[in-house]
Parts: sequence; structure tokens; C-alpha cells
Amino acid sequence: MARAIARGWGDPVLCSDGGSGRAAALVAELGGEALTNAQVAERADLVVLCHKPYQLGPVAEEIRETAKAVASVLGATSNDDLQSAYPGVPVFRLMPNTPVEVRRGIVCYVRGRVDVDAALEAQVLELFDRLGKVVRLPESQLPPAAAVMSVGPAYVALVAEAQVDAAVRHGLPAPLASELVAETLAGTAALLAARDYDTLAVRREVTSPGGSTARGLDALERGGLRGAFQAAADAVILGGRR
Ligand SMILES: NC(=O)c1ccc[n+]([C@@H]2O[C@H](COP(=O)([O-])OP(=O)(O)OC[C@H]3O[C@@H](n4cnc5c(N)ncnc54)[C@H](OP(=O)(O)O)[C@@H]3O)[C@@H](O)[C@H]2O)c1
Repeated sequence: MARAIARGWGDPVLCSDGGSGRAAALVAELGGEALTNAQVAERADLVVLCHKPYQLGPVAEEIRETAKAVASVLGATSNDDLQSAYPGVPVFRLMPNTPVEVRRGIVCYVRGRVDVDAALEAQVLELFDRLGKVVRLPESQLPPAAAVMSVGPAYVALVAEAQVDAAVRHGLPAPLASELVAETLAGTAALLAARDYDTLAVRREVTSPGGSTARGLDALERGGLRGAFQAAADAVILGGRR
């Protein structure tokens, strides 16, 4: 996720890693410097936490005294968790998805403390807005939001792959099938935005009574498409709690 965000910004970065050398690889690509966590915190105006949630404590131990402000993209890590790890430091909880790399991401933003510095908050949101679209929402809505937007790119890729496989079985070359499917997804996303995200309207426009689209949709419903997505949402949202 750090790499996707940095690529989306496209600027030189000050970054660190856990020892794998990925920070140096990112610097070789974008410019900037691969540093220690402490050095990043000393030199950066904003530290973007992109480690795994369980690493919150150890990383905070290293940088909480020097970090000027912290933006976190950590899943399952609330504003309270962040504020406890970084007492007295302005913290911002964000949830991006991988299309940030091509500046078509969604970044959910959950406001933390009520006394957050408005000018700093505006600067942070402006930075993330460069990666696509920032959507503000209450923390209680973040789990179902993440269950569509954060894991969503993998679902969409799987749906595309299934369609490509089906077309290949009927004789279409795979590269052509892939292009047709991907461009149809992109075009339909744009059409949905133009129709105020009214999925039923877009579906009805393509579906003549008793026609081929209606037969295809019926096959998908009977194949359990809706139930599969519901089960996926349950697995993502409830999985960690059960
Ligand atoms: N993947 C997504 O689509 C997505 C979407 C939204 C939010 N997130 C959140 O983003 C975070 C990262 O996920 P990911 O999929 O990008 O995981 P990842 O590929 O494992 O990346 C985690 C990075 O954190 C680095 N790291 C580990 N310990 C560190 C330490 N002590 N100091 C500095 N850096 C350290 C790792 O360094 P090494 O390279 O040395 O291992 C690695 O580069 C998670 O909290 C996840 O919830 C992910």
C-alpha cells in the first residue's frame, strides 16, 4: 500500500521498511531517501503509517516523540488506538485502495479528535485527494466501507478474470477478451457515476425483456452471485470477530 500511495503521489519520498529493502527500491523508482523510522519522523512533516496493524506499538515506540503528525492507513486500527499509541500527536485515520497508484483510488477518511487542527487536516486531505476521491464517513461505517472499497479491487479483478475465461472458452483470444472486459468495467463505472450510481437504471438500459442480457443476468442470479458477495462481506466484516 505504501508503494501504491507513493506512486500515486509521484514525488520523491522519505521512507523506511522493516529490513526487506523495499524502501530503497521505492527510492530508486521515485527519488528521495531510504531512512530509518526515526530519521523519517525527524524530517517529515507527516508520517504515513503503512505497516501491519500489529506493528503499531513497536513503530510508535520509535517515533512517537519526534513525529509531527501521523496519517494511518492501518486496517482494524481505530482513531482511539492511534491516539493511544501517539499521545499528543495529531493523527488521521484513512483507508485507501490500490487504485490510488493510478490516482483513481477511494480514500475513506474518519475524523478523529474534535479539536484537530483544521488547517493541518485540510493539508492532509488535500494530499490524499490527489490519489483519487476522499470520502468522509463515521468510524462505525468503515468496516462495511472497507469490505467493498479496500478489498474491492481484488473482487473486481476476479469478476473480470471469470468473464475473460468464459469468453476464451467460446473462442475469443485472451488479450482481446481482457481488454474488452476491463474497458467495459471502466466505462460502466463512468456511466454509473453519470447516473448518480443508480445500478438498476444502468442494468435496465441494457436489458430488453426476454433478451440475451436478461438470460445472462438470470444465469448469474441462479449461480448465486448475490449470495456469494453477501458471504464475502460477512467473511471480511465478521471474520475477525468470530
Ligand atoms: N493492501 C491493501 O489493499 C490495503 C488497503 C487498505 C489498507 N491497507 C493497510 O495497509 C497496511 C499495509 O498493508 P500491505 O498490504 O501494504 O502490507 P505489506 O505489503 O506487508 O507492507 C507492510 C510494510 O510495512 C513495513 N514494515 C514492517 N515493519 C516495519 C517497521 N518496524 N518499520 C517500518 N516499516 C515496517 C514492511 O517492511 P518490509 O518490506 O521490510 O517487510 C512493508 O514494507 C496494513 O495495515 C493494511 O491494513 C492495505
